[in-house]
Amino acid sequence: MKIITGNPGTGKHIVARIIAKKLKLELIDINKVAIGHGVFEKGDGTLDVDLSELKKIITKKASKNSLLVGHLAPYVVSRNNVESAVVLRRNPYKLQSVYKKRKYSYKKAIENLGSEVLGITYYDMVKKIGRNKTFQIDASDKTVSTVVKKIETLFLKGRTREDGVDWLGLILKKGDMKRFFLY
Ligand SMILES: Nc1ncnc2c1ncn2[C@@H]1O[C@H](COP(=O)(O)OP(=O)(O)OP(=O)(O)O)[C@@H](O)[C@H]1O
Ligand SMILES: [Mg+2]
Repeated sequence: MKIITGNPGTGKHIVARIIAKKLKLELIDINKVAIGHGVFEKGDGTLDVDLSELKKIITKKASKNSLLVGHLAPYVVSRNNVESAVVLRRNPYKLQSVYKKRKYSYKKAIENLGSEVLGITYYDMVKKIGRNKTFQIDASDKTVSTVVKKIETLFLKGRTREDGVDWLGLILKKGDMKRFFLY
């Protein structure tokens, strides 16, 4: 299977839908699978997920032709099933306005912003499937079609040029640690 992951609001679904159509891949939305199998949604809009159960369901459902999409991807796949994974990144200042628009709770927003700044999804994806199969793309200043093209190249050729991302350096320079982390 192929993977598109990254924190909420990085643009996974919008690009995944286009790529699935273009490359004739079967789109599997992790959140939809979780909800469809009776995983609870908590009061603040976050999912209370049994990851090992979800991993079993996804493993059964997915094939070579699948495109798995969701921020939980690193935690519901096994190394040998994954061909390549894209981790979409987005500038935390931009992500924060996406979360404001979505009316995320303070807790949900701060958790996801901290995760983006530290690159936790990227780190966990690399840990799961390895450095040479994981590619991060900074979608902050790219159009949807540019992001789509980069991912298409990766999925067809097995490689694409990766972006360097250093949000921690950026927010330190701006003196904004308090804006993105709970003390
Ligand atoms: N490259 C882009 N340029 C500008 N806006 C974008 C881009 N990609 C996505 N967006 C916008 O950003 C928002 C988040 O996109 P999307 O819903 O696809 O994210 P997501 O990663 O699937 O989020 P979630 O995990 O919460 O479902 C949307 O309003 C979308 O239209
Ligand atoms: Mg989405």
